[in-house]
Amino acid sequence: MSGRFITLEGIDGAGKSSHLDAISAHLRAMGREVVVTREPGGTPAAERMRDLVLAEDMSPRAETLLVFTARADHLERLIRPALARGCDVLCDRFTDATYAYQCGGRGVPVEWVRTLEHLIHPDLQPDLVLLFDAEASVARARLGSRQGSGADRFERQDEGFFERVRAHYLERARAAPDRYEVLDASRPIDALRIDVLARVSRLAR
Ligand SMILES: Nc1ncnc2c1ncn2[C@@H]1O[C@H](COP(=O)(O)OP(=O)(O)OP(=O)(O)O)[C@@H](O)[C@H]1O
Ligand SMILES: [Mg+2]
Repeated sequence: MSGRFITLEGIDGAGKSSHLDAISAHLRAMGREVVVTREPGGTPAAERMRDLVLAEDMSPRAETLLVFTARADHLERLIRPALARGCDVLCDRFTDATYAYQCGGRGVPVEWVRTLEHLIHPDLQPDLVLLFDAEASVARARLGSRQGSGADRFERQDEGFFERVRAHYLERARAAPDRYEVLDASRPIDALRIDVLARVSRLAR
């Protein structure tokens, strides 16, 4: 028996991470084992690559390769073994984020990312992508104190960057509507949680 692979996506500040605890508690209440993880990161080596990606200026293609290097470790050491044990895996960002940020945001060719995806996980896609969709201005306002000097390389980008990222996410969701749940993330968090948990229930049943 394989577990379900659920990912959370959306631009910085859209409100993804705020729902991780509720989703994992909900799945556990349904009797499922859950592994909660994130990208870039999720293993010791991948977390160090995350630090590099978030802090150090680098070429968009180098950034893309580094994210996939981290992903290869994360998949082999954490995600695939957990799914094989029957655990559900709840992952804060995955390959959709690479398409959205590196292709949509930075202009890396889609074909480039598709090639890496086929190399690193030809056989695995999320069973459900929860896409938290909000205008860049709304998401930015939510980042609050994270916008200042402590902001990472992505949080420092302008609204134009995030609108391109957002558009790319929405384009991917339109191309595979069964796998994506597009949520209007401008709504209050409690209202969103109800929809998120209802969607997850339908999958986990
Ligand atoms: N629906 C909402 N309405 C209002 N505020 C929200 C909502 N969802 C989250 N927030 C607040 O917005 C901020 C960002 O939320 P969160 O950290 O969940 O975003 P994120 O999408 O995970 O961001 P990042 O991509 O930077 O990790 C937090 O302060 C959170 O409390
Ligand atoms: Mg987050």
